[in-house]
Amino acid sequence: MIDTSVKYAGLRLKSPFIAASSGYTADLEKIVALSRSGIGAIVLKSLFEEQINNEINFLESQSVEYTENADFLNHYVAAHSINNYLELIKEARSKVDVPIIASICCYTGGNWTSYAREIEDAGADAIELNLYSTPMLSDPSYIDKSGDDIERESCAIVQRVVQTVKIPVIVKISDQYTNLLGFMSRLKAAGAKAIVLFNRFYRPDISLKSMKLVPGNIFSSKEEYLKSLRWIALASAKLKAGSGATTSVLDFSASTGVHDGNSAIKLLLAGAKSVQLCSVLYQQGPMVVGNFIEELKNFMQENGFERVADFCGSLNYANISNPTDFERVQFLKTAEHYSAK
Ligand SMILES: Cc1cc2nc3c(=O)[nH]c(=O)nc-3n(C[C@H](O)[C@H](O)[C@H](O)COP(=O)(O)O)c2cc1C
Repeated sequence: MIDTSVKYAGLRLKSPFIAASSGYTADLEKIVALSRSGIGAIVLKSLFEEQINNEINFLESQSVEYTENADFLNHYVAAHSINNYLELIKEARSKVDVPIIASICCYTGGNWTSYAREIEDAGADAIELNLYSTPMLSDPSYIDKSGDDIERESCAIVQRVVQTVKIPVIVKISDQYTNLLGFMSRLKAAGAKAIVLFNRFYRPDISLKSMKLVPGNIFSSKEEYLKSLRWIALASAKLKAGSGATTSVLDFSASTGVHDGNSAIKLLLAGAKSVQLCSVLYQQGPMVVGNFIEELKNFMQENGFERVADFCGSLNYANISNPTDFERVQFLKTAEHYSAK
């Protein structure tokens, strides 16, 4: 009997496939459709610190007597944004039976701990912290910040949220840190139960026709899962339970470039406990989750695995005969085997 369920960040998921945070998961109808497709969990669209601040800034610019109204306005806008978000959590929670993971995107200490508590009270099963912010060039002090400053601030946010809520705290990161394993170890020490590798951001492009900025492709392509594969293979071997600053378990979730069951299975073999889907949901709809589950079951059947845990991580850095293959980044002599025109 094949069992596709997994344990991820302390949550029991009926399949390792998670709907990643995006506009797709801000829509209740889509959330319900996803829950019927066999999805293991749903990460709601992020609540953005930036979004709340922008709304406040816009209202500030409209207000003639802003200074008198400032406190009221800040409070009103923040409360309005968070209330809409809490409503989405409550509605999703009441309509579906899969874990609902709320997501907040924050880059300053701010009010995030109080929002996190409200999110927990609204019924979220876990919180995913989407930590990245672009360098704010409007802030002249940013350029003088060191990587260590940024990592310490991020870990402090994680620690404060962990100390505030009882539900698991998951952290979603980009690959743009100097010492990724070191940073992940610090996140683990701060109390993160899982790390999502990696977020894929909006990327501006230039149109030569209009000579203006245009959005780059917002959807990933099939090859892009390879970066997550390498880092999950390394991190799941090096930061497993009992290693690093704490003895707690740290799980990994793969995000970016997962467009079919095969790439998802490879990421599980590399050590991911769950795999997140975004572009493929936009492009093929919720029914595609059924294909992922079918491919996973076929793979397990063909290889004699009853549970996902039987093969999860079996090809990570610790479990292959030549682990340095995961470390190599330069082509060296390999390139000589390929013919060139
Ligand atoms: C339209 C769109 C909106 C997104 N919004 C969020 C968001 O609010 N929070 C977040 O953490 N990631 C967001 N993402 C990133 C996705 O969750 C995911 O990490 C990324 O798209 C890579 O996965 P994919 O290759 O399956 O698309 C968004 C992605 C897209 C395409």
